[in-house]
Amino acid sequence: MRKSHITKVMAMALAASLAVGTAPAVYAADTAEPKVVYSFDFEDGDVSAFTNRGGDDTTELSASKDAAVSGETALLASGRSESWNGPAFRLDDKLEPYTEYYISAKIKGRYYTGAMMSFQYTVDGETKYSNLVQNLNGSDWMSVERVKVSFTEDMEGVYVYFEGGSDDLFIDDFVVEEVPAVEIEQDIPGLAAMFGNDFKVGTALVPGNLSSRSTMDLVEKHFYQSLTAGNEMKPDSVLNKAACQAYVEETGDDTVPQISFGAAKPLLNYCRNNNVPMRIHTLVWHSQTPDWFFKENYADDGEWVSKEKMLLRMENYIKVFFETLTELYPTVDFYACDVVNEAWLEDGKPRQPGEQGSGGSAKSAWVQVFGDNSFIEPAFTYARKYAPEGCKLYYNDYNEYMDGKMNAIIDMAKDLKEKGVIDGIGMQSHLDARQSLDAAFPSVAMYNNALNKYSELGLDIQVTELDVTTPENPKDADFAVQAAYYEGIWDAIYAHKDNISAVILWGVTDDQSWRAKQYPLLFDAEYKAKECFKSIVDGYEMPEVIPTNPPVIPTEPATTEPTTKPVEPTTPVVEVTLYGDANGDDVVSIADAAAILQAIGNADKYELSEQGKANADVCNPGGGLTAADAIAIQKLDAKLIDSLPVTE
Ligand code: XIL
Repeated sequence: MRKSHITKVMAMALAASLAVGTAPAVYAADTAEPKVVYSFDFEDGDVSAFTNRGGDDTTELSASKDAAVSGETALLASGRSESWNGPAFRLDDKLEPYTEYYISAKIKGRYYTGAMMSFQYTVDGETKYSNLVQNLNGSDWMSVERVKVSFTEDMEGVYVYFEGGSDDLFIDDFVVEEVPAVEIEQDIPGLAAMFGNDFKVGTALVPGNLSSRSTMDLVEKHFYQSLTAGNEMKPDSVLNKAACQAYVEETGDDTVPQISFGAAKPLLNYCRNNNVPMRIHTLVWHSQTPDWFFKENYADDGEWVSKEKMLLRMENYIKVFFETLTELYPTVDFYACDVVNEAWLEDGKPRQPGEQGSGGSAKSAWVQVFGDNSFIEPAFTYARKYAPEGCKLYYNDYNEYMDGKMNAIIDMAKDLKEKGVIDGIGMQSHLDARQSLDAAFPSVAMYNNALNKYSELGLDIQVTELDVTTPENPKDADFAVQAAYYEGIWDAIYAHKDNISAVILWGVTDDQSWRAKQYPLLFDAEYKAKECFKSIVDGYEMPEVIPTNPPVIPTEPATTEPTTKPVEPTTPVVEVTLYGDANGDDVVSIADAAAILQAIGNADKYELSEQGKANADVCNPGGGLTAADAIAIQKLDAKLIDSLPVTE
């Protein structure tokens, strides 16, 4: 299989990259140095580019000569009443989306301070924040140096802000620079081109990665066959708490979770616009799933719901997840889905019951509600019922090569296979090269053994989250071990290629990895191929026909039993006053969607007025009310669409 004609491989790779139409990107010569876009030393006394975050009345921003790094003046935030009050700089009204910027600044408390630089934005009405730099501590000036930020066009109210303590905060020398694009190596083989006829080659991204031209050049060259959202399609990103609670308020029904793909939208749009197939990750998981999802009325302090109610929530979540996705993105190839993630422990037992945050990451609210792992089978049954055609269903886990866990997965998979509801096993493959090949965990032999065992099941295998850590602060020798180990693992994967349909790296460059301190990926922070990249391609030949992604012809959504009965078609007898306003309160909101669903479900009890019916009939006017009318209003409310179908 392997040959060592590396020169030939390289030459063919170049030809191949031209063949798939990925012409080398052209970069202006002057982009090598970061370009300064904003710079504030506050010497002119103007602090108007900053606002106070956190909405207290007492904080004041002013130019002060009490402390300064450059010159004599700094920005002072005084009178802060909460640790989250502080100077904020808005990005989305001044800078471009899909562009990377460096933020640098000097920060100081009046006395000793623990300060942070943080990031905030709003998508679909939900505000999110994260800490960019946390470990600023001291009584003197502290430096924030070239921290990368970016945003997408879907985000609004995007701020970088300073917080921490309740002491006065000084900021000086605040600089925003545009990160220069780096040209990626064109003279190396493309991974997807090289292996993509055997299995799809892909990666995981978060929306921020879309702003890095160089990262996306690497994606387009090496990983164009599959994309996984790093976090944005997990339950905590998809479930919309406010909408869930509003729906309960309106209908009294707390079994129909309300969702939004707002967080994933930039990635979904990328896949649609570039014809990249998507792996869906993940529907049912103990982690990154809010505890309130398992509580009465979706209240943080509610009682745990019954198993029966949770089954309804699960079914409706899976249903609305697939229905919404396929409706919004009919041309994206959702070819695989992790239905259940990480349900078995290393000893082959289910997780401990409990809240996710209650002592250790091993606890599972699913186990809390079901008592055991009996939630797995219905999850697959519902996924099979509602997933679009062509979307294969996987059980996904880490440490999947350890005996106890592996045997539990195999027993479960046999059972699910017999019931026809599973298509494959996702081997996460978060591996650890350590100091030597002998110490690597798992050994290549152990990993190979797992590949053998899962192959024997007669199910498909996907390597879903491959990365291989080095020790922290790695030296050259550690990278050499990593390369040798990656090579062994890759060869084992390749030897099982007939049973493997996709190999996905969990990220592109080391610095962007969730395990960045241990340099686990194939490309370094400068977008250069590492030794481990070279070791896996070395000796493989470029195929004559380079794989491309066939365009997706939209198919009819999976035919499912309607859960609500459409009412008899009616002709609007009254003139529409406001399309979407089913309950006649002169606004279009989620309450209208709820009123429609109630009317469809129980027309006797919840009949709409004639005016309401006319207003509500937004899809195919005159055709009568259906759930589609309610869904359209929900989508408008979640900002997934800009206008109702009838007004388009
Ligand atoms: C990780 C993400 O990469 C991180 O950004 C996040 O903080 C935690 O989750 N197994 C999985 C993935 O199935 O969803 C996890 O992703 C990594 C382990």
